[in-house]
Order: sequence, then C-alpha cells, then structure tokens
Amino acid sequence: MKKILDVKNLCKSFEDTQVLNNIYFKVDEGEFIAIMGRSGSGKSTLLYSISGMDRPTSGNVLYFGKDISKLDDKKMSEIRLKHMGFIFQHSYLLKNLSIRDNIVLPGFKAGTLSREQVNQNANALMIKTGIDSVADHDIKKVSVGQLQRAAICRALINKPDVLFGDEPTGALNSSTTREVMDVINTVNAEGTTVIIVTHDAKVAARASRVIYLMDGNIHDELTLGKYEGAEKTKSSREKRLSEWLEKQGF
Ligand SMILES: Nc1ncnc2c1ncn2[C@@H]1O[C@H](COP(=O)(O)OP(=O)(O)OP(=O)(O)O)[C@@H](O)[C@H]1O
Ligand SMILES: [Mg+2]
Repeated sequence: MKKILDVKNLCKSFEDTQVLNNIYFKVDEGEFIAIMGRSGSGKSTLLYSISGMDRPTSGNVLYFGKDISKLDDKKMSEIRLKHMGFIFQHSYLLKNLSIRDNIVLPGFKAGTLSREQVNQNANALMIKTGIDSVADHDIKKVSVGQLQRAAICRALINKPDVLFGDEPTGALNSSTTREVMDVINTVNAEGTTVIIVTHDAKVAARASRVIYLMDGNIHDELTLGKYEGAEKTKSSREKRLSEWLEKQGF
C-alpha cells in the first residue's frame, strides 16, 4: 500500500499561539480517515495544513513522498486542482451557473483532459451521485443535499487521489447526511482516499480510522476497518466509536 501522506513534526501557530503541536501521522492510499475533537482543538487547521490550503509553521507534509509543505502558491494550487478534491459544510457552488457547469469548471481549468472527457466524467459522476436529473437546473432550484452531492462531483471531476472534507455534513439533516455519506463511502470503496473532519459520530463510524485531536495534539486513534454498510456492523461500529469517544471526554 502506497503512503499518500506522511506528516512529520507538523506545528502551526497563529501569531504567538501554537494551535498544532508536533503532529505525526501517516495515511495509506485508500484509507478513510475521520478527524474528531472538540471545537477549537485544531481539526480544520490540521486539515488545511496537510492539504496545502494553508502552510504549516514548521514540519513536513510528504505527499506520495514529495514534501509539499514549502511549495510556492502556484505549484501548490496546481497540485490541489489536479490531485486533490475539497468539500466543505456548504457547497459554495457559483450561483449564476447550472449544476453541470459548476462541476465541469475545475475540469476545464485543470486542462489535463479534453473538454469531451471532462463532460463525460461529469455525466458519470452525476449519475453515480443521483443528481443527473437536475444537471441543467439553476442551483437555486435544487435541494441542499443535491447541492452537496454536486459539490462532491465538482471535487472529483479531475479524479483526485484524495478527497478532503471539513464537516461536509455539518449543515445537513440526518437523512441527507446518510445520502451524502453513502456517496462518500462509495467513492472511497472505489479507491479515493478520504479525509474528513466531523463532529458527528455516525459519520465518523463510516471511516476506517478515527483520529482524536485534543489541544492541537493527536490524543488517540481508533481503527475501525473498512465500512461495509451492513446494518449489523454499522451499529457495532457506532457503539465502539461512541465508547471510545466517551473515553476521550468528547
Ligand atoms: N486564521 C487564524 N488566526 C488565528 N487563530 C486561528 C486561525 N484559525 C484558527 N485559529 C485558532 O486555532 C484554534 C483551532 O482552530 P480550528 O478552526 O482548527 O479548530 P476546529 O477544531 O476546527 O474547531 P471547530 O470544531 O469549531 O471548527 C482555535 O483556537 C482558533 O481560534
Ligand atoms: Mg473547524
């Protein structure tokens, strides 16, 4: 199994406050990591520091063995565009474009595939995530869950190695959360590495490994193994995780 990320001695400070302290962690290709911890523990800061959205103050972030922590903005944004996908609490789709146009835009921008291939990828992704029927709709006329699925399609248009999410279900109700997480589990089962921050234990129970951050340190981690989706294992995973979280004081 190839290592997609190898984070070594990562520290992050804002002015004189140290938010992340000497973080070490490795991610294998194909893993699904959930990052949990109380508000202010540094989850988003960690996600941004390992995905090149922000720069660590010190330490190294090896992406397939290559140190990306000191790349200039231009090189880093190219890696993000071509090799990484991002989703957030809100979909941040452009309001004056259709669902389809939002999805193809980063594909055209990356320029690695022909326009025809980008359009084909977009169609396949919309079918997979169940939003093909609203492809040409104005984004103001679709549901929040459909918007978030569109955001996932946009994040995957360039076939990234890794999908990063900062509370991707944070603004969704429980049934929409399940729909979006089913999509994310499918994407992961097909080989894309997934790393998301979440407050929701039901969401984290779908990850193969859960990292618990406390005051900018990795306090503990729990290996749950691959998610199979079956009702029976689902409840035992959720139980294991909630007992573990209780132990962390979550
Ligand atoms: N740009 C910034 N400038 C100054 N301080 C920051 C900045 N970003 C984050 N912090 C501080 O770093 C700490 C960790 O913030 P972070 O957003 O990573 O926490 P979090 O675990 O994601 O919290 P939440 O669950 O509320 O999203 C907080 O004390 C926060 O105030
Ligand atoms: Mg956060």
